[in-house]
Formats: sequence, structure tokens, C-alpha cells
Amino acid sequence: MSKLESPIDDLLLSEEQANNLTYFAFAKANQAESVLAPTKASIGALPDVLAGRYHLERLLGAGGMGAVYRARDLLHEQFGDPDPYIALKILSEEFAESPDASALLYSEFALTRRLRHDNVVRAHTFEVDTDCQRAFITMEYMRGLTLDKLLCERPLGLPWKELRDIVLPLLDTLAYAHRRGVLHGDLKPSNVMLSEDGLRLFDFGLGQAEQGTLPGLPHLSRERFNAWTPGYAAPELLEGQPLSASADVYGVACVIYELASGKHPFRRLPSTQARDEHLERELRAPKNLPQQGWQALRTALSFNPAERTITAQQLRDALGATSSWLQRLRLRA
Ligand SMILES: Nc1ncnc2c1ncn2[C@@H]1O[C@H](COP(=O)(O)OP(=O)(O)O)[C@@H](O)[C@H]1O
Ligand SMILES: [Mg+2]
Repeated sequence: MSKLESPIDDLLLSEEQANNLTYFAFAKANQAESVLAPTKASIGALPDVLAGRYHLERLLGAGGMGAVYRARDLLHEQFGDPDPYIALKILSEEFAESPDASALLYSEFALTRRLRHDNVVRAHTFEVDTDCQRAFITMEYMRGLTLDKLLCERPLGLPWKELRDIVLPLLDTLAYAHRRGVLHGDLKPSNVMLSEDGLRLFDFGLGQAEQGTLPGLPHLSRERFNAWTPGYAAPELLEGQPLSASADVYGVACVIYELASGKHPFRRLPSTQARDEHLERELRAPKNLPQQGWQALRTALSFNPAERTITAQQLRDALGATSSWLQRLRLRA
């Protein structure tokens, strides 16, 4: 029987468990009266209203460990907020009882919150609904198009003047995250949104803090949950090496290549297979990418981390320089 299934009083009685934030969060404290009582479950085993406040409205996406819903914050709405919508990420039923999974969700929250950047999704709160015993994150509700959907609409890729408005902020954001000691771990088109309020990087679910950053986060065994995306994860990750800034650079380089050409650089194959089949020999500069940026992107796409000698900031500078070089040319013409 998992610890979360034990009677709530037992949780409070055990000092060891009370010291463990994951368990502690689930203990049914003397809850203040909710603004609104939870109503009966209607979305799977979830109630309509979580924590007496968040009314689940629509499923936005479901992934490996959880699901994301659009919800209305009834408390804010009650006080007249004209836009009470939030997004709510909650563990799926299967993982809800695993303290490790809750701690991973908390880690996602803590990593996201560490980043205060216009182009990173804003995390609001980490909470637990004590009735259904589920942990969840609330965050800004983004309205827009993820890059994978954009690619469906633009199968030939984007011309540089459109591309640079995505690629440069994306690289700025990644370079900022790396400076803050936050590694994303899952750079891919479906984790970047072109929202009404600009580009947003989100889903730090596979993210990690660099050593020394956020030392209070519990040390988590991620093996059971690790689910790198094979087509975007660097080969060393698929071979069990720890996440690094360089692995993020590989992922973002795949995204940039794909946006520029409409095609994944290595036919979406797992990077280890692409490496073993020497697919780098077939790589061609996407025509939408200015020639001057190609060397840098090619370096970022190196299978061998020892040859991937470029940071997110350097890749940004290389592509940004290209942009201003072109702008100067245009101005002269
Ligand atoms: N804050 C948000 N606002 C709007 N949609 C979101 C938000 N967060 C996630 N989504 C949608 O839900 C999908 C899954 O979210 P994500 O955080 O990537 O979870 P997973 O870990 O399952 O990939 C996203 O691709 C996106 O379409
Ligand atoms: Mg995702």
C-alpha cells in the first residue's frame, strides 16, 4: 500500500513523514472553509472544482504523467477579475499516489518560478486538493499556437524575417534559463507557444536545476519517470548521461532547423540512431536560414557533445548577428 493510501492521521503522526514535504502537503489540515464547496466528479476521477476554487473547464493537453486543463479561478472571478482563466497541470490518476511524481511536479513548478522572463510561462501556485489527494500547478493560461501546430500549417518552414522573431527570443530565453541554472530537458516544438502575448517556453517537467541551484529541492530518482523525447534529446541523454545545457542546445537546434526548413534535421529519428546512420552527412543548410548562421547551427546539432561547442547565447549571437547584417544590407539597398 502506498503511503498516500494510509489514513491521513497516520501521515500526521509520523515525524519522518511530516518532515517530508511531499507527504505533508497531502495531510488534511484544518482546512479553512472553501469559498465554494467542491462539486461531484465529472472529468474522470477529478472533481469539477479543485481546492474549492479552480473550476476545470477543458482539457488542453495530456502527456506522460499528467494533464493540463483550462480552468476558471472562481475566487478571482468573484472579485470581478475580467480574465479569471488559468491553466492547471495535474498528475494523472495513475501517478497521483506516487510521492515521487508529486515531487517532480513540484520541481517543475520551482524551476518555472525561478525564471522571471517575459518568454517563460508564468507559474502561479503549487497546491494540493486534499479531497482528491492530487497535487497540481496553476499557471498563466496561454492563448495561441504551439510550434508543432505552426509547423503543420507551414510545412515548408518560415522565411527568415518571420523565423528570427521566434528563434531569437527562444534562444534569449534558453540562455537566460541556463544563466539561472535551469535546464529544460524537453526542448521541442510542442513545448513552445506563440501566444497572444508573445513567445512562451513552458513544460519544465523534465527540467533540472544545475548543481548548487535550488538545493532545497528533494533529490529525486528520475529513472522511473525519465521520458526524453528521442527525436529531440541529444544522444548522450538517451545513453544515460545527465541533462546538461549542451543537451538543451541540441534540442533547440533541432527546433530551429525544423522551423527553417519544415523538416526535422534527422527525420525525427532518435538521435542515437541518426548518429549511428551518419545522417549528419546529409544535413544541408535550410534555405530560409542565412548562410552566416549555418555554421553555428550545425555545431549545435553535433551528435558528439564534445563537438557541440556552442552555448545557447553564442548560437543566439551568431543568428542575431546574421539578422543585423542582413538589416544593414537592406538599409543600404
Ligand atoms: N499554460 C498553458 N496555457 C495553455 N495551454 C497549455 C499550458 N500549458 C500546457 N498547455 C497545453 O497542454 C499541452 C501539454 O502541456 P505540457 O506542459 O507540455 O505537458 P506534458 O508534460 O504533458 O507535455 C501543451 O502542449 C499545450 O498545448
Ligand atoms: Mg509538453
